[in-house]
Amino acid sequence: MGKILTIADLKNQAQRRVPKMFFDYADSGAWTESTYRANEDDFAKIKLRQRVLVDMTDRSLATEMVGEKVSMPVALSPTGLTGMQHADGEMLAAKAAEEFGVPFTLSTMSICSIEDVASVTSKPFWFQLYVMKDRDFVNNLIDRAKAAGCSALVLTLDLQILGQRHKDLRNGLSAPPKFTPKHIWQMATRPKWCLDMARTKRRSFGNIVGHAKNVSDLSSLSSWTAEQFDPRLSWKDVEWIKERWGGKLILKGILDEEDARASLDTGADAIIVSNHGGRQLDGAHSSIAMLPKIVDAVGDRVEVHMDGGIRSGQDVLKAVALGAKGTYIGRPFLYGLGADGKQGVTTALEIIRKEMDVSMALCGKRLITDVDRSILA
Ligand SMILES: Cc1cc2nc3c(=O)[nH]c(=O)nc-3n(C[C@H](O)[C@H](O)[C@H](O)COP(=O)(O)O)c2cc1C
Repeated sequence: MGKILTIADLKNQAQRRVPKMFFDYADSGAWTESTYRANEDDFAKIKLRQRVLVDMTDRSLATEMVGEKVSMPVALSPTGLTGMQHADGEMLAAKAAEEFGVPFTLSTMSICSIEDVASVTSKPFWFQLYVMKDRDFVNNLIDRAKAAGCSALVLTLDLQILGQRHKDLRNGLSAPPKFTPKHIWQMATRPKWCLDMARTKRRSFGNIVGHAKNVSDLSSLSSWTAEQFDPRLSWKDVEWIKERWGGKLILKGILDEEDARASLDTGADAIIVSNHGGRQLDGAHSSIAMLPKIVDAVGDRVEVHMDGGIRSGQDVLKAVALGAKGTYIGRPFLYGLGADGKQGVTTALEIIRKEMDVSMALCGKRLITDVDRSILA
């Protein structure tokens, strides 16, 4: 393998280091994966304006997301089973994000627990909440996030029912992994991953095991989700969640202008334009296609963030130009983690920072906070 220069390089390396079932879990979308592909493809269709002979000194990507200082407007997305891309994955990614000065968001469906991540970080991280039918468990999760000093709650709205990802079903995905000949083969061909995994005790859902009552078959993500996630979640629920939490609230998974307008009544601090990385409603529009419409509808009243399909710093720049005050990366950091643990996450962030910085300069801007639609052709 030559030098790592792009997110695609990290993806190639991750594929060689992570067992197939977990690499595929990251690199998949629902059904035909058309929305997963559109998220990336639609970024490529947006063209930048090249400007010349403007002062390019003293550039800065620093800005704020929900009032927190960030070294660039890129947070790490909440992703389930991150501790299966690499042993202790959530703890490593959280440390890399903290050192880089960007937010890390821990998923409810993480392998390392809220308390694990808090034990290795010194700045607050963000917690992503899935709402289960068992409200005692949900209240307890919110309280644990508070106790750990989390500074924002990211409430995911687009996964009360799980979209079907064919690869996971074909692979028989589970955490901890099953020990059938096929799974043993997939792991045995990734010896470094196995060695690291043998050294950690964190191999199941750390926020759930030992905390939720009657957790029977956690090994099957799809059946557990179907059994536990509350399909009745409504705008009314956002109210009590906001109240119980009492801090900054970010609503994740809005892809429609009507829903964006409805979100204004909740008093949320930000919304994330997102289709869950193309993993839920296949056939939905890409996030970047919907972003400007949602910004036009509500951008003057709530902070609008976006995720989905960002694979370069240019993509972040385009999202910012179209009105996003912040963005998130899912797969890019997961590929980095699978490729090289904490250092790989740092590399992913560095690649994105460099691309964003140079592109911004060549578009004639010095501050990310000055970037607007005028940089687009
Ligand atoms: C492997 C994987 C697991 C994910 N798990 C969660 C999750 O637990 N909670 C959540 O809100 N979103 C989850 N997402 C969605 C991400 O938060 C984010 O919306 C998406 O990854 C952004 O697209 P990108 O991967 O193209 O950057 C997951 C995404 C991936 C790829």
